[in-house]
Amino acid sequence: MRMVDLIQKKRSGQRLNEAEIDYVIQGYTKGEIPDYQMSALLMAICFQGMDDQETSDLTMAMVRSGDTIDLSAIRGIKVDKHSTGGVGDKVSLIVAPIVASLGVPVAKMSGRGLGHTGGTVDKLESIPGFNVQLSNGQFIDAVNSIGMAIVSQTGNLAPADKKIYALRDVTGTVDSIPLIASSIMSKKIASGANAIVLDVKVGSGAFMKTVDEARKLAETMTRIGKALNRRTVAIITDMDQPLGREIGNAGEVRESLDVLRGRGDKDLSEVSITVASYMALLGGVSASLEEARTAVIGAIESGRALETFKQFVASQGGNSAIVDDPSLLPAASVSAKVKATADGYVSKIEAEAIGVAAMLLGAGRATKEDEIDYAAGITLHKKIGDRVSAGDVLCIMHTNRSDTAEAERLILKAYELKDTAPEPAKLIHEIVEGDR
Ligand code: URA
Repeated sequence: MRMVDLIQKKRSGQRLNEAEIDYVIQGYTKGEIPDYQMSALLMAICFQGMDDQETSDLTMAMVRSGDTIDLSAIRGIKVDKHSTGGVGDKVSLIVAPIVASLGVPVAKMSGRGLGHTGGTVDKLESIPGFNVQLSNGQFIDAVNSIGMAIVSQTGNLAPADKKIYALRDVTGTVDSIPLIASSIMSKKIASGANAIVLDVKVGSGAFMKTVDEARKLAETMTRIGKALNRRTVAIITDMDQPLGREIGNAGEVRESLDVLRGRGDKDLSEVSITVASYMALLGGVSASLEEARTAVIGAIESGRALETFKQFVASQGGNSAIVDDPSLLPAASVSAKVKATADGYVSKIEAEAIGVAAMLLGAGRATKEDEIDYAAGITLHKKIGDRVSAGDVLCIMHTNRSDTAEAERLILKAYELKDTAPEPAKLIHEIVEGDR
């Protein structure tokens, strides 16, 4: 087989078969296929697409490029959850203890944040002492004893995806539906999920800018799930503004605790309850979606979910006293207000710009090597639909850095004010349920 023939085949719109896709993925992972040929093929895929069979074959070839995690020692249906990436997205921290308290085992591998998006592992590391690196045995024991564990993704899970993603990032080939779908699904399958709930973000702060595009991605991923025998549901949720009020690691842990106490903002609570309900349904602890929703709300109201979160923090070496006293989480030395410069209704908050502003305050990484300041971030005081007058506080920046001017400029630009109140923002656009 020759790579150049496969590039030409895809360029002319033909489909690649399983053996051809495997040749490309294993060859590229081992360094036998150079970046320039892989880049050409990725660009051809961007223009010509891939059908369902090719996308499933690509997913499985990426799974085979590295290790897979065997979770068979954990009792029950292992349901994983994945978000396509958002700003202020702390849903994993909330849903994991909810469903674990209902008996769905959560054995989760999560990533770190890069650029304007945050990562679950960084958020957890803002808890003093929290350890995201457990051995396989410790990981499985924790899930079997308290119902959940969240660890950092290991180096050798779907290494093809890691290498290809880095190449896509610099060759203008990120936003291709088969490439995104196979990238996400390969990691979920390699990490041992039996069933998967996907939170597909749509809006200014997401990869998918329109509901039509998000639906296509959601349908592609649920079809891959079906082809590979993993029940998969995709929930298309809004990212036309950050989710909840806190952006930044310690702040997001604090806000997650609020939701687990039943005191969260409506948007964050609703997305969390919906995702958790589907996880409970797919995990087989509820017979219907309605039953699952009742159970999820019950887990919050009874305090069981919060108690599970506390046990989870303690079991991974963290200071569980933060649950009852969130002031023990890292706090910044500077809190600076950003005030509105005009009157109006908030009609949009560019999530990506807010994410970048939080990164400039120290909450994120511009490069993989950057250190995070867990205390840094932004608290939004005004969200879409709120009426503001010039001089009102839009948000507060938390930082240990002395220069906040660029972050403030980005935040002011991110807030769009209009004279009339906008239509209420739709939070959950659609649910794509793969066939069972
Ligand atoms: N998230 C992923 O893991 N992969 C993509 O390609 C896009 C978003």
